[in-house]
Amino acid sequence: MNILITGGAGYIGSHACLEFLNAGHQITVVDNLSNSKFESLKRVERITGKQIQFYETDILERVKLNEIFSKNKFDAVIHFAGLKAVGESTKKPLEYFQNNVCGTINLCEIMKKHDVKNIIFSSSATVYGDPESVPIAEAFPLSATNPYGRSKLMIEEILRDLYRSDEKWNVVLLRYFNPVGAHKSGKIGENPNGIPNNLMPYISQVAIGKRKNLQIFGDDYPTKDGTGVRDYIHVVDLAVGHLKALRKIKDNSGLKIYNLGTGNGYSVLEMVKAFEKASHRKIDYKIIARRSGDIAECFADVSLANKELNWKAKRNIDEMCADAWRWQSKNLNGY
Ligand code: NAD
Ligand code: UD1
Repeated sequence: MNILITGGAGYIGSHACLEFLNAGHQITVVDNLSNSKFESLKRVERITGKQIQFYETDILERVKLNEIFSKNKFDAVIHFAGLKAVGESTKKPLEYFQNNVCGTINLCEIMKKHDVKNIIFSSSATVYGDPESVPIAEAFPLSATNPYGRSKLMIEEILRDLYRSDEKWNVVLLRYFNPVGAHKSGKIGENPNGIPNNLMPYISQVAIGKRKNLQIFGDDYPTKDGTGVRDYIHVVDLAVGHLKALRKIKDNSGLKIYNLGTGNGYSVLEMVKAFEKASHRKIDYKIIARRSGDIAECFADVSLANKELNWKAKRNIDEMCADAWRWQSKNLNGY
């Protein structure tokens, strides 16, 4: 199939590009490189020996986006493009709504105009807010506590309404849990700007000596060891989930929503131990106060994706840490 991948130069997008190319699809990436480097795509081309058509374009640029759709006949769009830093979103809510929500509306209008009605959207486990229980199933109540999360919820609603208005659309909302790790080659991986907000890139930077120690946000949660528990999923398993979702769309699946996680929860301390084992480095840490907005425990019920997409995450936390470490140690300053 001929696929448009928005945000394809980013962390998850670049891993998805690699899997789509290896599966024999033709791909075009639209990315404004606001949080990524073109180098990621060059490396994907080198690893796969295949080519990517690339447009350095913002999805908010209607005229350019329209031209891209006029020049190409896409079968489906995988929509990763978006801003994703929770803390930043509380300081710049308008930017987040403009980029994520207006960007998606723009994209969908142009897709509609060109009769491209298949879309897979990157949603997040953040749409479950603070869940009443775990594991979290797709039918759980939805809520948001920050502008980033709200932008994801709004986009989900917009895509739902779009499908209701015209059932020729096929929409798959993929709710990712915590993507970590990197491709086995060690050539592509997560490349955060500045100080990482998320656990795994922070631990990786402590391991290479770029940061002094990890600050663990609270050890008084009602969890196995008091630290926060999350469902970490290897980014390659996540990328493969998109391939499976695309297969689903081919059967005119309508509107579908799937959790993409492993179904297992690991604590911060367990992740630190697993990373120490993979890297043979000591991760110094200190316990500090809870981070505002954090929840105790979050992991997925993945039975729906197992059943309907025939997809299951295969890689365990040792592999996640080993691959994250390979990427980080071979690329001390990222791309
Ligand atoms: P990322 O920042 O690495 O990738 C996003 C890409 O989109 C970047 O390359 C950025 O340059 C591009 N982009 C942003 N705004 C754009 C615009 N207006 N026009 C064109 N390109 C634009 O992030 P990621 O971790 O790869 O996440 C991909 C998607 O998955 C995002 O939508 C994110 O919200 C979602 N998600 C990520 C996580 C996670 O933990 N990484 C979890 C849940 C959901
Ligand atoms: C974050 C986002 C969430 C997003 C998810 C997946 C925030 C507040 N939430 O959630 O919206 O959907 O990523 O991308 O950013 N931790 C530390 N020290 C650190 C970093 C993290 O102890 O320096 C802990 C956290 O308290 C948490 C766990 O590690 O218990 C994972 O944190 P993180 O990687 O930021 O992911 P989430 O909090 O799940």
